[in-house]
Amino acid sequence: MVDKSALLFGASGLVGGELLNCLLKGNEYSKVIIFVRKSLDLKHPKLEERVIEFEDLSRHKDCFEVNDVFCCLGTTIKKAKSQEAFKKVDVEYPLEIARLSKEMRAEKFLIISSMGANPKSSVFYSRMKGFLEQKLKEISIKSLHIFRPSLLLGDRNEFRFGESVSSFLTKAISFVFVGTLKKYKPIEAKTVANGMYKAAQGKSDGIYTYLSNEIAELS
Ligand SMILES: NC(=O)c1ccc[n+]([C@@H]2O[C@H](COP(=O)([O-])OP(=O)(O)OC[C@H]3O[C@@H](n4cnc5c(N)ncnc54)[C@H](OP(=O)(O)O)[C@@H]3O)[C@@H](O)[C@H]2O)c1
Repeated sequence: MVDKSALLFGASGLVGGELLNCLLKGNEYSKVIIFVRKSLDLKHPKLEERVIEFEDLSRHKDCFEVNDVFCCLGTTIKKAKSQEAFKKVDVEYPLEIARLSKEMRAEKFLIISSMGANPKSSVFYSRMKGFLEQKLKEISIKSLHIFRPSLLLGDRNEFRFGESVSSFLTKAISFVFVGTLKKYKPIEAKTVANGMYKAAQGKSDGIYTYLSNEIAELS
C-alpha cells in the first residue's frame, strides 16, 4: 500500500462515482477525501466525506494538503438553468479548486474537460471548457492532467435525452471510429475514471492533455 491521499470533487456524478470506486479499491491511496453537496451515505475506512457549500471552498483549505486532486464536476445548461450558473460549476469552481491545490502544494491536479474544448468556439459548452483549460494552464500547477473525453457512456440516475440519442446513434455506427476518428468514439465513464487513476500514478511535472482514445489507452 502506497501512503498517498486524494481529494475528489464530483463523487456523486457518473465519472466521479467510478473514480471514487477506483480510489477506494486501489492500493495507492490510504485516504480519500470527497467534497459533496449532499452526503453519499457511504462508509469506508479510507473515506472522509465533507458536505460543503461550494461557494466557500477556501474555508476547507486544509483538505487540499493531499497528493492528488481530482475534479469531475460538471453540469448541463438544462440543470443549471442559465449560462452563468453553468459557468460557475464548470469553470469557476474548478479554477478555485486548482488555485487552492496549487497553494496547498498538491502534487497532481487531474480534471475532466471535454472533446472539442476551444476558447474560441462558437458553441458555449466547448468555449467554456476551452476557457477553463486556458485558465488552468495560467495557474501553473506543477502537474496538470486534462482529460478530454468524447460522449460519456454509463448508467445515469437521470435521463438525458440528447446524450441517449447520441449514444444510440454512435453505437450503431461504431465501426467508423477508426484511425483519426478514434478520438470521437464514445467512451465508458469507467474507462475515463480508470484513465484518471492511472495518470495519477504516472508522469509527474508538466501539462498533459488526453484525448478520448488516449484515455482509453491509459486505462
Ligand atoms: N456527458 C458527456 O457526454 C460528457 C462528455 C465530455 C465531457 N463531459 C464532462 O465530464 C465531466 C463529468 O461528467 P459527468 O457526466 O460524470 O457529470 P455528472 O454525472 O453530471 O456529475 C457532475 C458532478 O458535479 C456536481 N455538481 C453539479 N452541480 C454542482 C454544484 N452547483 N455545486 C457542486 N457540485 C455540483 C454533481 O454533484 P450533485 O450530485 O450534488 O449534483 C456531480 O457530482 C463534466 O465536466 C462534463 O462536462 C461530459
